[in-house]
Amino acid sequence: METISKTIFDPTKIRGRKLANRLVVAPMTRVSATAAGVPTQEMADYYEAFAAGGFGMIITEGTYTDELSSKANHNQPGITNMEQMSGWKHVVTAAHRHHALIINQLMHGGALSEVSEETIGPSAVRPAGLRSTDFSVPPSPFPTPRAMDPADFENVKAGYVNAALLAHQAGFDGVELHAANGYLFDQFITPHTNLRTDRYGGSERNRLRFLMEVYEAVKVALPDDFIVGIRVSESKVNDLAYRWPGGSETARRIFEILAEIDPDYVHIAAEGGRWERECLYPDGFSSNSIAKSILRSPVIANGGMHDVALAEKLLNNNAADLVSIGRAAIASPNWPRLTAAGEPVVPFFKELIKPSLTLAHARRVREQSNESALC
Ligand SMILES: Cc1cc2nc3c(=O)[nH]c(=O)nc-3n(C[C@H](O)[C@H](O)[C@H](O)COP(=O)(O)O)c2cc1C
Repeated sequence: METISKTIFDPTKIRGRKLANRLVVAPMTRVSATAAGVPTQEMADYYEAFAAGGFGMIITEGTYTDELSSKANHNQPGITNMEQMSGWKHVVTAAHRHHALIINQLMHGGALSEVSEETIGPSAVRPAGLRSTDFSVPPSPFPTPRAMDPADFENVKAGYVNAALLAHQAGFDGVELHAANGYLFDQFITPHTNLRTDRYGGSERNRLRFLMEVYEAVKVALPDDFIVGIRVSESKVNDLAYRWPGGSETARRIFEILAEIDPDYVHIAAEGGRWERECLYPDGFSSNSIAKSILRSPVIANGGMHDVALAEKLLNNNAADLVSIGRAAIASPNWPRLTAAGEPVVPFFKELIKPSLTLAHARRVREQSNESALC
C-alpha cells in the first residue's frame, strides 16, 4: 500500500525547480567576505560543503543590497556591484556542482546596522539592545535611526531590484527577502518600531506594504522562474522574546495579506533556535500551520529542525513543506548524508557561532574545545 508519510528526504519543488530533498541550509551570517563585501574562495568552499553534504537548497548569509545604508556588519558580503557579483559566481558554481539550489538572502540592516554612522528605519526609534561595531570593543547602544523619507524608500527598493538582478547574473536560483529577525522590513512590520502615520504605518496592511512593494518590484524585474521568497519571524536578534501582538490572530492577518502577493515561498525563522517557543501559540496553532492553511506558497519551518522527529511531525501535520537547519549545518555540513546513513553527526557547540569563523577555522576551534554540545 502506498505510504502518505512525508520525510525530510523526499524530493520536492519550489516554483517548478527540483530539490533533491526538503532540507535547506538556513541563512547564517559569517562575516568572512573582504572589507569591500566581495565573497572569497573560502566562502565558495564553505557553501560547497553544504551542497556536497546533501542539502537540497542553500540560503546564503544575509547580503547587503546597497552601499548607502543597508550594510549590517563589517566583512558582510554585498551584492551591489560587478566585483561582488563575480565573487558570488564562484559560490553559485560550487553549489550547482552538486545540484543544490542556492538562494541569496537579501538584507537591509535598517536601524540594526552595526556599521552605519547614520542608520535609517521606519521611524526615529532607538532599537532595543546593544551593537558591537567591532567585536573587540564593548557593545554600545544603537544610534536612533533617521525616519525614512520618500528618497530613502526609492533607494532601498532600487537597491533590492539591482541586487536581485545581480544575483540572477551570478547564477543564483533565487533570492530571499529578509523580513525577519528585527532588520529593516521587520522594523516596518513591528508596531513599536514603526510609528508612521502615512500609508506605511498603522494597520498590518500598511506595515507590510513596503515589503510587498519591494517584492513586486523584484518579481517584475526578474524572469518568471527566478525564485523570490520571503523570510519572517516573531523574535528578533536584539529582542529574542518578542512575539506578534495578538498571537495566532496576528499571524492569520499577516499571512492573509502576504497571500495577496503569493510569494514563491515563505520561510518562518526562529532566531533563538526553539521552534516550540517561537512559533507555537497557546491555542495549539503555530505560525507555520497558519501560514500553510492560508498560503499557496511552500512554507519552510526553522528552529531546531535537526530534531528529525519534530521536522517530520511538521511535514506530516501540514505545518511545513521544507525545513531549514542552521547551527547543526555549521557543525556538520554533510548533515543530510550522515543522517540518511544513520551515522552520528558532529554536535554543535556555541564557539561555532563566532563571527568571522569560517568552516575551517570552526573545525580548528572545535578540535581544541572540550565544550559540551548544545544540540
Ligand atoms: C551564526 C548565525 C548567523 C545567522 N545569520 C542569519 C542571517 O544572516 N539571516 C537570517 O535570516 N538568519 C540568520 N541566523 C538565524 C538562522 O537562520 C536560524 O534562524 C537560527 O540559527 C535557528 O535555526 P537552527 O535552530 O537550525 O540553528 C543566524 C544564525 C546563526 C547561528
